[in-house]
Amino acid sequence: MKNKFIAGNWKMNKTVAETRQFIRELIPLVAGVKNRVALCVPYTDLAAAVEETKGTNIAVGAQNVHWAESGAFTGEISVAMLKEIGVEYVVIGHSERRQYFGETDETVLKRTLAALGGGLKPIVCVGETLAERESGKTRDVLARQISEGLKDVSAADIGNVVIAYEPVWAIGTGKTATNDEANEAIGFIRSLLAEKYGKDAADGVYIQYGGSMNEKNAEALLSMSEIDGGLIGGASLVPQKFEAIIKAK
Ligand code: 13P
Repeated sequence: MKNKFIAGNWKMNKTVAETRQFIRELIPLVAGVKNRVALCVPYTDLAAAVEETKGTNIAVGAQNVHWAESGAFTGEISVAMLKEIGVEYVVIGHSERRQYFGETDETVLKRTLAALGGGLKPIVCVGETLAERESGKTRDVLARQISEGLKDVSAADIGNVVIAYEPVWAIGTGKTATNDEANEAIGFIRSLLAEKYGKDAADGVYIQYGGSMNEKNAEALLSMSEIDGGLIGGASLVPQKFEAIIKAK
């Protein structure tokens, strides 16, 4: 059994001052835990988060990255910019970006390859909408998102990719996938990886569940055989709730 990987995705929440305060509260709460911990924070909070977490077991991630090295891309941030300040992870292809900002499997692939090429670990998000689930298309959607979104990711790199299965209907709704639904979908994603990269490589990939995971349901979800961790939105904004999830299993 591998340790779990619990990452917070703060989305568009917290100022620099709030970030510093949160991290100072969290550090003693999670010191020495065996699970991997990361906080994916807004761009403006990254430098402060890296500074505050230095020497601790908390890693820092961004929530997006552009694929170009530099250039005329107003509002975008490059891999080198993130690396230079000590960022380790980057969330890519979150459903909110797919829904509101035109993210596609093609741009997910470009961002993922750029991240891997520059030594950032991508947390690639996949997941079906409610309409897709209700019409029986969950597996088709996941298969497309994985095959297109990770198309040119090499066998050498797949171990540095984290995947987050986040059913869109469970995000921020308080409606969690059942333990079995989450486990089944993640098992399916792993089988897709096994077809392409072999069973050992697929078993080594961390696949998280995300979508209304909280301090109450985390233990049951994290006890499922295929679920390697969580990508936590709302509950990662409160140190004690995030602590409880990190320590749940
Ligand atoms: P919630 O935990 O707020 O449902 O958000 C999940 C999510 O989107 C994490 O990326």
